[in-house]
Amino acid sequence: MRIGIFDSGIGGISVLHEAIRRLPDEEYLFYADTDHVPYGIKTPEEVIEYVDEVVRYLIAQEVDAVLIACNTATSVAASYVRDRYAIPIIGMEPAVKPAVEAARVKGGRVLVMATPITIRENKLKQLLEKVDKEHIVDLLPMPGFVRMAESEVFGGPEVDEYIEEQLAVLDKSVYTEVVLGCTHFNYFIPAIKRAFGGIETIDGNEGTVRHLAEVLGLTLDENGREGAVTYIESGRLVTDEEALARYTRLHDRLEYVKGC
Ligand code: DGL
Repeated sequence: MRIGIFDSGIGGISVLHEAIRRLPDEEYLFYADTDHVPYGIKTPEEVIEYVDEVVRYLIAQEVDAVLIACNTATSVAASYVRDRYAIPIIGMEPAVKPAVEAARVKGGRVLVMATPITIRENKLKQLLEKVDKEHIVDLLPMPGFVRMAESEVFGGPEVDEYIEEQLAVLDKSVYTEVVLGCTHFNYFIPAIKRAFGGIETIDGNEGTVRHLAEVLGLTLDENGREGAVTYIESGRLVTDEEALARYTRLHDRLEYVKGC
């Protein structure tokens, strides 16, 4: 099958990274909307317009399904594009449920890091009403991570200072889980863990790929081969060696952070 995976930028690579290993026999089109990144600080109307354009492009490329590898785009635009187009459109949301379950056992709290749009929107509020009955979840917008990720600054003083600044209003010691509610945030796992003196980070990538497999009737693979990917940036095919090398670097980074 031909699967279109997209994000505003490089965040979606963290979902693609999982998909090409667990479903290696499929063909992937990865679309980064580099002309419009970041989505998380735009208006919902702007994001809906961008997402509609991306989905139309991917459908024109004859994909069998679209995976929105972006929490922000899912929260404001998934239902809009699902109503308009007939192919399966899979979205993602912050993995709050498993985080709440784990924190409950440990007697701790959960911190959801996401973009300002994801945090403001109803979709997350509705999810919290369902899974956070004890009110143990706090929300923290981290838009600076998206900017730094796009410049491939994943560690060092700029990252550490940003995290400390954002966390200054919170009591770090009460948290046992951090939810990575934006696909750009996986690149920062080592810095996040360090800032808390070691903490569990939870993302929705594996669950999203499992859901994709279910919807398409595919069986997940365990052997770690990699499916073929074509990279597209805001409608332009990526063929340039340097740009392709950047994607390889990003996959390497994601493989590295998995072990942290
Ligand atoms: N990667 C995105 C997400 O999962 C959005 C980042 C952005 O463009 O602000 O929310």
